[in-house]
Amino acid sequence: MRQKIVAGNWKMNKDAAASQTLVDALLQRKLPTDVRVMIAPPMIFLDRLAQQAQGTVLGVVSQNMHAAESGAYTGEVSASMLKSIGVNTTLLGHSERRAYFNETNSSLAEKTAAASLAGIEMIFCFGEELADRKSGQHFDVVQAQLEKALFDVDALDWDKVILAYEPVWAIGTGETASPKQAQEMHAFIRSLLAEKGSEQIAAQTSILYGGSVKPNNAEALFSQADVDGGLIGGAALDADDFMEIVNAI
Ligand code: 13P
Repeated sequence: MRQKIVAGNWKMNKDAAASQTLVDALLQRKLPTDVRVMIAPPMIFLDRLAQQAQGTVLGVVSQNMHAAESGAYTGEVSASMLKSIGVNTTLLGHSERRAYFNETNSSLAEKTAAASLAGIEMIFCFGEELADRKSGQHFDVVQAQLEKALFDVDALDWDKVILAYEPVWAIGTGETASPKQAQEMHAFIRSLLAEKGSEQIAAQTSILYGGSVKPNNAEALFSQADVDGGLIGGAALDADDFMEIVNAI
């Protein structure tokens, strides 16, 4: 179902005490009921924070998941492990995973298929690099990322797919895509969903924007017709900033 979503990706930030303090601070605010608010803390704190947020509207999601069910994959976690602690959503394909941990469109296709099979909802991240945009390849790059890791995957459960367009040049740089650039890409993505999937998939899939979303630019981005919310990095580490962004939707 297409819905308004603001998700905070904490990346590798906060220790045990600080993560608990931030969740406490968020839970003390009045979280809206018409916007899905989620956080993706470091894996090691998922279990505890999921328990802390249980029974509230705050969603706790994983930053990553392995494609295999179980086995000799040191340092990894599977879909069933996430489900066993009540975590039913994961980010997949973040540009930092692609850049630093060798995730590719084809390895991501395995992950999206595994998540779908396991009934895990995914926030699938993708986006072009600066060189792609400068050379005018950004639409092609985004199309290839979606085709290889989503459209080409058999029996993908689109009800459990949230898209997050994150242009790499805008992540952590303070440089945001303009509302017009974001809308242009989101409209293109929605047209691809209609063409490669169906009109229903296009109408029902939430497409988030990520990349230097801050309290002072969130409203302009979120007011675009095809922008359904945001995936927030740095500004999600502060309760006031994050809530200002949530309330900008
Ligand atoms: P920033 O908001 O820090 O640019 O990070 C965006 C991001 O990568 C969210 O996943």
